[in-house]
Amino acid sequence: MEILRHIVVLIHLVGFAVLFGAWVVEAVNGRRRVTRLMDWGLAIAAVAGLVLAAPWGIEYDLNYVKLGVKLVILLAIGALLGIGAGRQRKTGSLPPAMFWAIGVLTLTNAAIAVIWR
Ligand code: HEM
Repeated sequence: MEILRHIVVLIHLVGFAVLFGAWVVEAVNGRRRVTRLMDWGLAIAAVAGLVLAAPWGIEYDLNYVKLGVKLVILLAIGALLGIGAGRQRKTGSLPPAMFWAIGVLTLTNAAIAVIWR
């Protein structure tokens, strides 16, 4: 059970890596757009995160306040990706504030995961 949970944590981290990595690529090459890869990263992190939010394979209590905050931030990132993709389609560009918010919120969720125990 414990090993299975560690595998789900690994999948969760892959989701984070795909989402944040795809965002960094756009930030560095100056395109500042949302991409399908970001959607995939978020979806992988979301599914694995929800599986991890159930108390199995551990002997300690989960911090549900922390998980609730992470879930709200994840939904905000999802909304930004969805609205951003629509804006891009219509106008051909993404408001810079939306682009930066996606990266900052993603990093915030990773920081909450690691720092808030
Ligand atoms: C973009 C969204 C998210 C990012 C970037 C993210 C990032 C991370 C990272 C980096 C870790 C590893 C921390 C560590 O092991 O110290 C982690 C662990 C975890 N995440 Fe997330 N997360 C996200 C969304 C969620 C959501 C929505 C949930 C559930 C509501 C969730 C539940 C968990 C749990 C339970 C763990 C701990 C795994 C364990 O030790 O058993 N995450 N997350």
